[in-house]
Amino acid sequence: MHSVPVILTLTVLTVLLTSTVQVIGWRPYPSKTNGSDQIFDASKKYEGSSNLVRLRYHMGPVLTNNITVHPIWYGTWQKSQKKIIREFINSISAVGSKHPSVSGWWKTVQLYTDQTGSNISATVRLGEEKNDRFYSHGKSLTRLSIQSVIKSAVASRSRPLPVNPKGGLYLLLTSDDVYVQDFCGQVCGFHYFTFPSIVGFTLPYAWVGNSAKFCPGVCAYPFAVPAFIPGIKPVKSPNGDVGVDGMISVIAHEIAELATNPLVNAWYAGADPVAPVEIADLCEGIYGTGGGGSYTGQMLNDDRGATYNVNGIRRRYLIQWLWNHVVSYCTGPNKLD
Ligand SMILES: *[C@@H]1O[C@H](CO)[C@@H](O)[C@H](O)[C@H]1NC(C)=O
Ligand SMILES: *[C@@H]1O[C@H](CO)[C@@H](O)[C@H](O)[C@H]1NC(C)=O
Ligand SMILES: *[C@@H]1O[C@H](CO)[C@@H](O)[C@H](O)[C@H]1NC(C)=O
Repeated sequence: MHSVPVILTLTVLTVLLTSTVQVIGWRPYPSKTNGSDQIFDASKKYEGSSNLVRLRYHMGPVLTNNITVHPIWYGTWQKSQKKIIREFINSISAVGSKHPSVSGWWKTVQLYTDQTGSNISATVRLGEEKNDRFYSHGKSLTRLSIQSVIKSAVASRSRPLPVNPKGGLYLLLTSDDVYVQDFCGQVCGFHYFTFPSIVGFTLPYAWVGNSAKFCPGVCAYPFAVPAFIPGIKPVKSPNGDVGVDGMISVIAHEIAELATNPLVNAWYAGADPVAPVEIADLCEGIYGTGGGGSYTGQMLNDDRGATYNVNGIRRRYLIQWLWNHVVSYCTGPNKLD
């Protein structure tokens, strides 16, 4: 889940030792302190570190079967936008992308295992999709109404999404005119599982919103920077769509956590399963070597001056790093040794 960072001098260490609040990674969520405080007090956190981050396995299942991602396009989506996102999902287990690659990034997820020692699947494919272009549940969704949207997609009379509790992930993507509970102030996306009482099945799902109209400075950072942070310039997005390029890192975050903690009883840190700190939360806002606090770390630039850190099949993307529990730090394929 995306957490609610209190951007003070907290580091992973102090947070995990002193509180159960999920306060780890960095996104410029609006906070009570003002901009200059945030920049200068932001912890100069490294790419993780520490034996004190106790990410633990809680014995629940992880996604060891081939993973199939089913996007639900809620609201108004351009073809070009869908393409950027589809190609990202198709890049996760693509072979032959140039280093550093999206598939290299997924290797960190594959390090996680279940009770039997089975690793998370190397295979992530794009499955059947569903359009919900007439906003079946309105333009303002709650956490519960999101489950009703998923219910509509799997129970639809025409071309329902298949119900696949073994490796299916349901990815609800909302267009830039849809507000979702806690969007922008606290979250840019989250994952959970559906309730049988609402959907009829227990299915792992995530929601990620296009923040372009509501809060690109928060959820599409660093392609946009919020007004309350003076003096930082946004970087150019790799696919020319600030909202969608910003969604990619959030989608990556949620898919990584869905794979390692699909029913919220597998891999997480912290004592509280209601607010687990998961493998992407630990590295939120870190995109390269030296990242931490409000610094993204070293990223790459293409010949048009756009910023990215991984290569996909045909495109480039900027996605956050993930926690490697074997070595106890955040890592990504673009790390400099
Ligand atoms: C920002 O924070 C500083 C120090 O805490 C304070 O003196 C200043 O008034 C604040 N500025 C605004 C605009 O809130
Ligand atoms: C899983 O994916 C691999 C590689 O794409 C494929 O060879 C295999 O047949 C798939 N297994 C199932 C059960 O679909
Ligand atoms: C499976 O997980 C173990 C333990 O983290 C790791 O050593 C191994 O390299 C992983 N296998 C793959 C294919 O990633």
